[in-house]
Amino acid sequence: MTHTADKRTATDPSPHGASGTFPDGFLWGTAFAANQVEGGFDQDGKGLSQADVIPFRKTGDYVDITSLMKATDAQIAEAIASPGAAGYPKRSASDFYNRWEGDVKLFAELGMKSLRMSIAWSRIFPNGDDAAPNEEGLLFYERLFTRLRERGIEPVVTMSHYEMPLHLVTEYGGWSNRAVVGFFETYAKTILTRYRGLVRYWLTFNEINTTLIEPYTGGGIIEREPADGVDPRQAGYQALHHQFVASALATKAAREIAPDAQVGCMLARMAHYPATSAPADIVRAQWDNNMNLFHTDVQVRGRYSGTVRRFWRDTGIQVAMEPGDEALLAANTVDFISFSYYMSLVSSVSPELYGATGGNLFSTIKNPHLQTTEWGWHLDPEGLRYVLNDLWDRYQVPLFIVENGLGATDVLEGTGADRAVHDEYRIDYFRQHLQQVREAIEDGVDLLGYTSWGGLDIVSASTSQMTKRYGVIYVDFDDEGAGSGDRIRKDSFHWYRELIASNGATLEALPATGA
Ligand code: BG6
Repeated sequence: MTHTADKRTATDPSPHGASGTFPDGFLWGTAFAANQVEGGFDQDGKGLSQADVIPFRKTGDYVDITSLMKATDAQIAEAIASPGAAGYPKRSASDFYNRWEGDVKLFAELGMKSLRMSIAWSRIFPNGDDAAPNEEGLLFYERLFTRLRERGIEPVVTMSHYEMPLHLVTEYGGWSNRAVVGFFETYAKTILTRYRGLVRYWLTFNEINTTLIEPYTGGGIIEREPADGVDPRQAGYQALHHQFVASALATKAAREIAPDAQVGCMLARMAHYPATSAPADIVRAQWDNNMNLFHTDVQVRGRYSGTVRRFWRDTGIQVAMEPGDEALLAANTVDFISFSYYMSLVSSVSPELYGATGGNLFSTIKNPHLQTTEWGWHLDPEGLRYVLNDLWDRYQVPLFIVENGLGATDVLEGTGADRAVHDEYRIDYFRQHLQQVREAIEDGVDLLGYTSWGGLDIVSASTSQMTKRYGVIYVDFDDEGAGSGDRIRKDSFHWYRELIASNGATLEALPATGA
């Protein structure tokens, strides 16, 4: 008996097609986070946030970027004592807080269908544990959402993107303290109520897996020596559990307060490829993928996976759960999965292979088939198709790519009204990634939209540089915050505008220059 129907040949057309379309209503857009774009760190009643105390640090050729995202007690004390924005780039950022009206006009000119953004918690509750919200903060976002809707731009809003009131960090220990769950629930209910009818897509926590990778940025946990015998990852897993509970409570509140709204989780998805075809490497890569995906397992399936429970058993990590937590997680799963995609990683059981790629979020192995960005991040467009198919197969809920883009050093050319940025490398990046997105849609993936990272140039999350630029709109500030702050359309702006206007049909078209 033969099984010819199951045979694949190298010349089969699938899985590499070259056609396809994007669905009607596809939410094309751009994305940014309050702490990286707004500035105005002390305006209109805003409190200091965890991001406002991260100083600018020059980076060398090789840098483990997680080391740049830590904060110690001494560093925070010094930052609190430092007035103004000098040395703390996220305090002034791209000055969106004061220039938002002009920026929204540019977004409308770009033809954006959606803007993924976040609310600064410290604008709404300056200390986090305040008895009442700050009306000026609420008003800012109300005006912004209203204007976006008037311009036909759907706000996709993250409740917490690497930003919490600093008071919750210093006085409560950030997300390691269960009390923060209650403060977040109050914040979530406040914004869900105030923006009912204005916001239809909510994300609870940005890149929730960051809490384990970088506990200060993700979980507001100050770097301190753990007690003797305690696994240093203990605090991160406890904080993460609190975030899962808080996310479930926010999802529950959204269903009650704004039943038309959709709530999504958000994961930094990094596919792990085996370094070789040795079965041990394949199992290692599978384990690494499962440890990345256990976050979505909790938020989509409603329960922790066996992989992570075994990891806790093997390492002695104890995650305290209150009665009712597991039922809450099971009953309040999300409507869709949003994720960021920047790179893929390589897994191996050979420890000596690790550490070759500088700049990646994790110590990883150089993939000989891939180029890297200036910051050492693997460039892997096909990996995006892989993760889209993988997430869709695993969960069968709609997906949303809410971050993808190229951090690069741009050169501003010309003067006055003739200023331009010829960023064909960014156009190539978008084209190559979006071709893979189109393939995944052809493969049957249900995808809500694509919001490229940046839109405007913003301060980098990891390095606090302005010169690591992601936007299609150049912002004339340098790393020290000096400059006019003018907004200049890059070549990628014109290319992306045509792409959006054609709903993706001009993907293969040559760049249209702004000149
Ligand atoms: C994602 C974050 O991890 O990566 C963003 O959600 C961040 O906040 C983006 O800006 C790019 O990272 P970086 O460090 O280059 O700004």
